Amino acid sequence: MKIGIDKIGFYTPHIYVDMNKLAVARNVEPEKFTIGIGQDKMAVPPITQDSVTLGANAALEIIDQADKEAIDFVIFGTETGIDHSKSGAVYIHHLLGLKPNARCVEVKHACYGATAGIQMAKGHVALNPESKVLVIGSDIARYGLNTGGESTQGAGAVALLISANPRIMTLENKSVSLTADIMDFWRPLYSDKALVDGKFSNEQYISFFQKVWEKYKEETGMDLEDFEAICYHLPYTKMGLKAMRTVLGDAPEEVQERLKEHYRISTLYNRNVGNIYTGSLYLSLLSLLELNDDIKAGSRIGMFSYGSGAVGEFFSGILEENYKEHLLVKEHKDLFESRKEVTVEEYEQIFEKTLPTDGSNIELDINEDSATICLSGLTDDMRQYVNKMR
Ligand code: CAA
Repeated sequence: MKIGIDKIGFYTPHIYVDMNKLAVARNVEPEKFTIGIGQDKMAVPPITQDSVTLGANAALEIIDQADKEAIDFVIFGTETGIDHSKSGAVYIHHLLGLKPNARCVEVKHACYGATAGIQMAKGHVALNPESKVLVIGSDIARYGLNTGGESTQGAGAVALLISANPRIMTLENKSVSLTADIMDFWRPLYSDKALVDGKFSNEQYISFFQKVWEKYKEETGMDLEDFEAICYHLPYTKMGLKAMRTVLGDAPEEVQERLKEHYRISTLYNRNVGNIYTGSLYLSLLSLLELNDDIKAGSRIGMFSYGSGAVGEFFSGILEENYKEHLLVKEHKDLFESRKEVTVEEYEQIFEKTLPTDGSNIELDINEDSATICLSGLTDDMRQYVNKMR
């Protein structure tokens, strides 16, 4: 039975900051951010968006009535969840109006959470071929103003519908995972900002890629020429390129050129959003599938997932016949075009405006936020969400 990705939804907040202007404000040459890091725009989450609303907005654009009846499992991958106990999946289940007899959980391992969710979803569909699983990767990447990681922040979510006989991509069974207990990036429970050993995280990302790729080749007999493209977890768009360059030399010239060009296309959305942690690999896949004009059905796409701390995995998928017809190219073009730029000063103010942590209530103005699903406030320590369509 074929199991894989049937639909892909995406959401990113309606405001962004220009990386050239952020560079000037930080006394850095703009090319460091736009070329060295490889980011053009950074999504800025208003206080009315959190990982739950971002995820719900991404799912909203793909879920129809038939899906509502078939989805019996919601897996919410995040490392910026809103509660240490209750899963964000339950809020999303309610906001989308899914059927009561569905299972809901939150999955965490840094930027690897959504990949773990997809693997769980595959197993569930293998046992229950009629079911559909909604897997969401949603995060707000937050390091702090004037920090080394600031230029690699971002916000957004990708929602994937996993089912039998998928219309976009069948996921192949072979995958290679790797786990090692390292401290390259983490976030203690008391902090709303990530801590990171930047250089070490880069080195570990590359090392994990090399190790899973070598083992994947050994176990499958496949090599770079078997892949039309390889998508990477993209904390910033230069990162995947750094990893890919370390293995490209083994391939014939035309394969190198093809992989480099498809890598470029796979980074276009991410360049304009920033890091969305666990959704980043799938945003890159979406960018490749929606923006390429030469990748044919039947092509194999490799995927490298990396979650600091660390878990890595290399796996692959085969594109289905007419996959393009099932993508929301126009909707995503409109989403990007409708965003508004904020100044660096406005971004700093938005960054510092956080929810109370002392138990006090707050009511938020959701009219400023163009998203359908928003956070409208906090009452008695409980987040209040609104679906404006209801
Ligand atoms: N023109 C062009 N390029 C320039 C330049 C200029 N004027 N000035 C500098 N550069 C280049 C540098 O040469 C460098 O390129 P290479 O890496 O190819 O050599 C690049 O810009 C970045 O410069 P630095 O290394 O000096 O940057 P930095 O040390 O200030 O910060 C960072 C980079 C460590 C990635 C930092 O942004 C950071 O800590 N980010 C968060 C951690 C992260 O994203 N890690 C990635 C792996 S971990 C992971 O993937 C999980 C996750 O999502 C967090």
